[in-house]
Amino acid sequence: MAKLRGLDVSTIWWEGNTGPERYDFASLFGNDHPVELDLGCGKGLFLYNQARLRPGVNFIGIDWSRSFSRMGAERILRHGINNVRIVADDSWTLFPRFNPGSMSAIHVYFPDPWWKTRHRKRRMIRPEFIGVCERLIPIGGLLSVATDVGDYFKVMEQVLGQATILRRLPDIDPDVDLRSDYLTHFERKYRLEGRSIWRARFERI
Ligand SMILES: C[S@@+](CC[C@H](N)C(=O)[O-])C[C@H]1O[C@@H](n2cnc3c(N)ncnc32)[C@H](O)[C@@H]1O
Repeated sequence: MAKLRGLDVSTIWWEGNTGPERYDFASLFGNDHPVELDLGCGKGLFLYNQARLRPGVNFIGIDWSRSFSRMGAERILRHGINNVRIVADDSWTLFPRFNPGSMSAIHVYFPDPWWKTRHRKRRMIRPEFIGVCERLIPIGGLLSVATDVGDYFKVMEQVLGQATILRRLPDIDPDVDLRSDYLTHFERKYRLEGRSIWRARFERI
């Protein structure tokens, strides 16, 4: 049983190898609301904020850090939020277990930049990621990315910009954005440090 500081989180958090072979979101969430995916959700601040703001949407977070993702799950449970599930695993292992067109949006916020050249192939946004978007996001769905690493953002723009299945949407007005909550823990940290943040949104076409 997945207990965290006395709290049983097993209804909303599990490790990938103990989860379903194939994800059926209608039975997992008990409704047929759209599902959004947060890749590398960390401690789950985005999931926590968005799930409360948008109760008509289901959210699934993935992070291969057991400890961070469980922390996120604990907070979700403590607040009685029932439209979030979190899986501790490598995202790339889980992608094939999701049904085609099952994610109305994919969010990739502050993905690890993998600085060393020999590690670059581990980056989340890389050419193979286009295939993931093509398979999981239905036409009209959304891909949203943000990073504080300018070089990685250039790569994101190049990789995603070349994808014929994606159309870049106009940037969000930074003033509007600044009035709202921070998207994620890393965004809060980096904004407080005064770092620049790059974002882009794409529609699946
Ligand atoms: C810099 S943190 C950002 C966390 C969160 N998105 C935020 O903005 O606060 C990157 C996260 O991605 C997770 N991660 C990196 N590669 C991953 C992968 N292939 N599958 C799942 N999680 C991954 C790491 O464990 C880490 O928690």
